[in-house]
Amino acid sequence: MEKLIINGQKRLNGEIEVHGSKNSALPILAAAALVNGVSEIHNCPRLTDIDAAIHILTHLGCRVSRSGHTVTVDATAMNNWEVPDELMREMRSSVVFLGAILGRAGRAKLSAPGGCEIGLRPIDLHISAMEQLGAVLEEDAGKLDFHAPNGLAGARITLAFPSVGATENIMIAAATAKGRTIITNAAREPEISDLADFLNGSGARIHGAGDSTVIIDGVERLAGTCHTVIPDRIAASTYLLAGAVTQGKICVRDIVPAHIGALLPVLKEAGCDITASGRWVCLSAPPRLHRVKMTRTMPYPGFPTDVQAPLTAMLTVADGTSVIVENIFESRYKHAAELVRFGAKISVEGRMEVIEGVPYLTGASVVAPDLRGGFALILAGLAARGETVITGLEHIDRGYETPEAVLCALGADVKRIQEHGTAKEFTTEQPAADRANSFAPGDRLSGTPQSGAAE
Ligand code: UD1
Repeated sequence: MEKLIINGQKRLNGEIEVHGSKNSALPILAAAALVNGVSEIHNCPRLTDIDAAIHILTHLGCRVSRSGHTVTVDATAMNNWEVPDELMREMRSSVVFLGAILGRAGRAKLSAPGGCEIGLRPIDLHISAMEQLGAVLEEDAGKLDFHAPNGLAGARITLAFPSVGATENIMIAAATAKGRTIITNAAREPEISDLADFLNGSGARIHGAGDSTVIIDGVERLAGTCHTVIPDRIAASTYLLAGAVTQGKICVRDIVPAHIGALLPVLKEAGCDITASGRWVCLSAPPRLHRVKMTRTMPYPGFPTDVQAPLTAMLTVADGTSVIVENIFESRYKHAAELVRFGAKISVEGRMEVIEGVPYLTGASVVAPDLRGGFALILAGLAARGETVITGLEHIDRGYETPEAVLCALGADVKRIQEHGTAKEFTTEQPAADRANSFAPGDRLSGTPQSGAAE
């Protein structure tokens, strides 16, 4: 087992680049199974979710190789249409393989996917869409067995909710279906446009990706291409929040500022000075953050549900009371109970979370409950007085590439420790920088320990 040890209250300072988008790379890797040839995918983050996707591709008979951040998938000899349980369980987004396998093989057999514990995550929209494209579903001992012996055929599909995964699955499956598919109420996330760019680069004919109506004119087959995955907007947002919660001054380079357009006004409302231009965003945080009255998570371009937990962590030390309403997932506040261990004051009622800012947090021993909630604990640890120990890192490693290295480069004191107590090599010891970056005595986060840290 590994854990992160954080000595908090180091003011983050500097410039970073974020890795490629996990949520783009996953559907693109799945779509590579539909391609009759070689796909070269650049800027693929080194994350355990990506490993899981590679395991599935390999199991399907694709030849996959990885060199740094480039993954090459040769799906020419794909010869399997079944994904075993253990591979499906590795991640929720394994369901996005459904459209690719069905489109390529005319049959797909898989079980319900795994993933983050953030509430009921049905796949009814995926299933119904495949049926509308002509697949016939048989349930066989808990497995979903889809048949389309004569191939898929284009259809008009209206999504009851603009599901990201369902939109992606339809686009992939419809890319080589016979005729035209029209998706209405499609998701508009940047990852949808990135997937369309990959598919179109491979010979697909997809129009309107990024809008709520997407038109796919099926082509006979797809051929190999090279594609570069977009930067990870959720990781970029998370690191900006790390700068904010530590009274820091940081720049995130090589991102698309418009992709984090819903976060920037929230950071400004919290009193941060934001400058954005071209491919970067810089943040300078005030000595004490202000509360943010009301944030509602919404489908893109609204405030992303994936940034809700990190935002909560930031607001725990803001001056005043903030409210967040989670509209996408019904049970995505598991981090709240762990944040309370730092002395945060949070109450959750249904989909609403009320965060009463405290002057400072105190280091705690906590367990990451899920991917984004896990990073929220890192943010609390960065802000807190004293030492924080975080376990459950397997959740965090699904979506953030070596976060400790990124944070250390900004002046944080974060070490990843193996069970037997050895720190991993990249951990930087920067005593001088530590002193320079430490919050000065009397700063907001210093002072006497707060009583009743665990409410
Ligand atoms: C994707 C992202 C995830 C993000 C989410 C919402 C990936 C790999 N993951 O997940 O990080 O939090 O979008 O932005 O890209 N729903 C149904 N039936 C379905 C499908 C979805 O009811 O068949 C519901 C879900 O339970 C949820 C909502 O729709 O309440 C949104 O889910 P969806 O957009 O599909 O999220 P994912 O694609 O799973």
